[in-house]
Amino acid sequence: MGSLGVENVTKSKVLIVGGTGYLGKRLAKASLEQGHETYILHRPEIGFEIEKIEMLLSFKAQGAHLVPGSFNDFQSLVDACKLVDVVICAIAGVHVRSHQILLQLELVKAIQEAGNVKRFIPSEFGTDPARMGEVMEEGRATFEDKMVIRKAIEEAGIPFTYVSANCLASYFVGGLCQPGIILPYADSVLILGDGNQKAIYVAEDDVATYTIKAIGDPRTLNKTLYLRPSRNILSQREVVQLWEKLIGKQLAKDLISKEQFLSIMKGLGYGEQVGAARYYHIFYEGCLANFEIAENGEEASELYPDVKYTTVEDYLKRYL
Ligand SMILES: NC(=O)c1ccc[n+]([C@@H]2O[C@H](COP(=O)([O-])OP(=O)(O)OC[C@H]3O[C@@H](n4cnc5c(N)ncnc54)[C@H](OP(=O)(O)O)[C@@H]3O)[C@@H](O)[C@H]2O)c1
Repeated sequence: MGSLGVENVTKSKVLIVGGTGYLGKRLAKASLEQGHETYILHRPEIGFEIEKIEMLLSFKAQGAHLVPGSFNDFQSLVDACKLVDVVICAIAGVHVRSHQILLQLELVKAIQEAGNVKRFIPSEFGTDPARMGEVMEEGRATFEDKMVIRKAIEEAGIPFTYVSANCLASYFVGGLCQPGIILPYADSVLILGDGNQKAIYVAEDDVATYTIKAIGDPRTLNKTLYLRPSRNILSQREVVQLWEKLIGKQLAKDLISKEQFLSIMKGLGYGEQVGAARYYHIFYEGCLANFEIAENGEEASELYPDVKYTTVEDYLKRYL
C-alpha cells in the first residue's frame, strides 16, 4: 500500500459535530473505521430523542468518546475542540428539513479560541458555494451562508478543507434525478431539458470515506476537495438508461423545458423552491461538471484510488 494507505496514515483525534445526522453518522462511522480517535458532540438539546441516544451509544460501544457540548454554551464548544486535532461539522443544511449552517460561526470562534485544531471541515458536502454567486434567488441563501462560514474560517486563520460532494446519491439517483421524487418505481420519467447535462453522484458512505481520508492529508490543506468519481459523472438520461437496463424495461419519457420548469417552480413553497432551484442549476445549466478543478482544488478519486467507490449502477440495485 502507498504512503497514504490506511495503515500508514497518521491517526488523528477527530471531533464530529452533528454526528447523529444523515451525513454525520456516516462520518463518525468512517472515522472509527479508519482508526482515528473519534469524539462525537452530544448536545443536551437532543433530550429524549431516543434514536439519537441509541446511535451515540452504539458509537461509544465502537470506541467513540461522547463529548457533552452545546451551541448555547460557547465554553463547552471550546472544551470539545481542545480535545482534538480535527473538527468536522455536519450540521443540518437542507431547507426542506432544517437549515442551521450559520450556527457554525460559534464553532469557528470556539476553534479559534481553542487554538489547537489543525484542520476544520465545515458543513458543506454539496455544490461548491464559491462557484454559485450568480444563482437564482431561491436557494441562494444556502450558498451565501456557506460562504459566510468560509470567510470566518479564513479570517480566523483556521486550516481547512472544504468538501464538495456534488449530488448525494439517495436524493438524486433514487428519484432518477426528478425533483420531489426519491424512489424510481414508475413507468415514466420526467426528463429535465434535453436530459444531457452531466451531473455527479456520490454515495453517502463514500462522501464520508473520502472526507476522513482527507483530514490529515497535506495535499488537501486549505483546498476544496471535489468528489468526482469518473464512472458517476452521468447525465439524467444515462442514469435512466442504467435503471432501464436493470429492470429490463423502457420508461416513457416526458420532457420539461426550462420555461415550464421555472413556471411550475413559482407555485411551490419556499423549501421546495430551494430544492427545485438546485435541480435547475444542476440539470439545466450543468453547474457541477462544467468546470475544471483549479489549483485551489483536488479531486478525491485521484488522490485516493484505493477507495472502491459505489457506482451509480450498483447504487440503483438497492431499489430492485
Ligand atoms: N449534496 C447533497 O446532495 C446534500 C444533500 C443533503 C445534505 N447536504 C449537506 O450535508 C450537510 C449535512 O446535512 P444533513 O442532511 O446530514 O443534516 P441533518 O441530518 O439534517 O442534520 C445534521 C445534524 O445537525 C445537527 N443540528 C440540527 N439542528 C441543530 C441545531 N438547532 N443546533 C445544533 N445542531 C443541530 C444535529 O446534530 P446532533 O443532534 O447530532 O447534534 C443533526 O443530526 C449540510 O451542509 C447539507 O447542506 C448535501
